[in-house]
Formats: sequence, structure tokens, C-alpha cells
Amino acid sequence: MGLIGNPVEHSISPQLHNNLCKHFDLNLAYLPFRVYSDDLFTVVEAFKALDVVGFNITIPHKVDIIKYLDNVSEEALIIGAVNTVRIKDKKLFGYNTDGQGFMRSLRDAGMDVKGLKVVILGAGGAARAVAVKLAQEGANSIVILNRSKEKARILTELVNNRVKEVAVFDEMTKDKLIGYTQDCNIIINTTSVGMWPEIDKSPIEMAEIFENRPFVCDLIYNPIKTKFLKNAEENSCKTLSGLGMLIYQGVSAFEIWNEINVPDNITKQMINKFVDFFKGNEGI
Ligand code: ATR
Repeated sequence: MGLIGNPVEHSISPQLHNNLCKHFDLNLAYLPFRVYSDDLFTVVEAFKALDVVGFNITIPHKVDIIKYLDNVSEEALIIGAVNTVRIKDKKLFGYNTDGQGFMRSLRDAGMDVKGLKVVILGAGGAARAVAVKLAQEGANSIVILNRSKEKARILTELVNNRVKEVAVFDEMTKDKLIGYTQDCNIIINTTSVGMWPEIDKSPIEMAEIFENRPFVCDLIYNPIKTKFLKNAEENSCKTLSGLGMLIYQGVSAFEIWNEINVPDNITKQMINKFVDFFKGNEGI
């Protein structure tokens, strides 16, 4: 198994998957491969020839990989990006496990999105995966707020046309933020603001948005507790870091490749392992 992308040096996926292989006593290994765009097709053909079980895809190949696949899941097609490929009988099957990773992490925290109002900050690739999954799982309304309004509009149309008519969009300004967060249940930061090394930044600096005690999530996992989450906790909100999503999207890929269920307690052990890892390695 492996990971293709550029860069791949800082990925924790090899540690996660090799630990899972050890746990399930599988005679497999997971390796990171730096792949340049011009070589993508050659690498995919080589993986097929070598009977690789499956691989993850990261920046910049998540969209380009699609043209080489024999089959793509409906969710990945809607999102327009694939992060997991399974190779079976020389055929390539594409999936996107990011949304599922987020949802499993949310469920672990005791949240069920059915009927809830959600505010998403950002409209990039991660927001796409999360918004599509939230709509599929029955969120009552999804507000997409982004610095560039146009990108938020495109994502809103995607959700409303392909999944369910639940999304609206707007700019990420102070007034709009306060307005939309008044009666929301969950706020999710999908922007990169606050990520290492810019840990003193936050996508929002206003305590007003936490007034009604929404559940506050950040997709950033380095640092584990972003300034945004710290502010939310100071205002008595429950919070969720991006680490759970990171581990669960990997676990979901591992399950697809090996046709096994990873029990929740094993995934939780992995999450705890990586909490310690990131605490000791802030900035990796
Ligand atoms: P990813 O795949 O991780 O989602 P991305 O597709 O590059 O990454 O998306 C990054 C998101 O963070 C975008 O929504 C971006 O806003 P724009 O669409 O306006 O570019 C948002 N973002 C990045 N830096 C930001 C900043 N300083 N303030 C507000 N939003 C920011």
C-alpha cells in the first residue's frame, strides 16, 4: 500500500497504516512516494503491475487521478476528488474517505448531524468533502462562508444540485458570521488559518459567535488545539480537532483495501498515539 503526492515527507499515513498492519498481523507495508504530475500515469500502471493493494492520493493529484480509474464512487464523483484507490483484479476503484473520516470523528464525539444547522468556514477541497457528506447525512441547513464568495457559491450549487437543497452561501465577514451563528448547532473551520506555523491566527476572533454554545470543529490537526478551538473552549463550547478526521479517513481507506472492520477502540488507540506524537512534535 502507499501514498502518492508531492510533498509526502511529513505524512503520518505510513505510521498509521503500518501500525494497523501490525495489529491485524497482515503481511503488508505502506510507503510514501513523491510523484510528479508528469509521472502519474506511469506510477499508476506500475502499481497495477506490482499488485499493490491500494494507495492514497494527496496534493496535487486528487483530481487528475480520476481519469485513470475504472470506477469512481458516487461520493468521490460529486466531490470531484479521490483520496483512496483500491486495486482489484488489475482494475482501479476510486473513493473519497475525507467526508466519512470527518463524520466518524464527529460521531465519536457524540454528534449526529441529522436535523442540525451547520456553518462551514471555507470552501476549498476539505470543505467540499465535508459539505457533501453533511448533506448526505441529513443536516437541516448548511451555511458556507468564505473569503471569496464565488467559491462558496460554487460549493453551494454543488451540494444543492447533486445531494440535497440545504446549502446557502455568503462572505466571511463579521456581520454575516454573527448573523449565521446565532442559531447554528455546529461551526466547522475548513480554512488553513491557524495551521502551524501560524498558530497565533484564527479565522474568527469574535466571542459573539460562540454565544449559543455551538459545537466547534477545526479540520486542522497541527496544532491539535488551534487558537480557534481555544477561544471556543474559553466560551464554554465543546470542541473537536482535525486529528480524528485524519485518522478515520485513513482507517476507512484501510478497511476498503483489506475488507475488514477496524474496531473503534483500535482507532481510538491510534488517535491517542498521534495526540502524543503531535504534542511532542509541534511543527513537523
Ligand atoms: P483544502 O484542500 O485544505 O481545503 P484549499 O482548497 O486550498 O485547501 O482551501 C483553502 C480554504 O481556506 C479556502 O476556502 C480559502 O479561502 P479562499 O477560497 O478565499 O481562498 C481559505 N483560506 C485560506 N487562507 C485564508 C485566510 N487568510 N483567510 C480566510 N480564508 C482563508
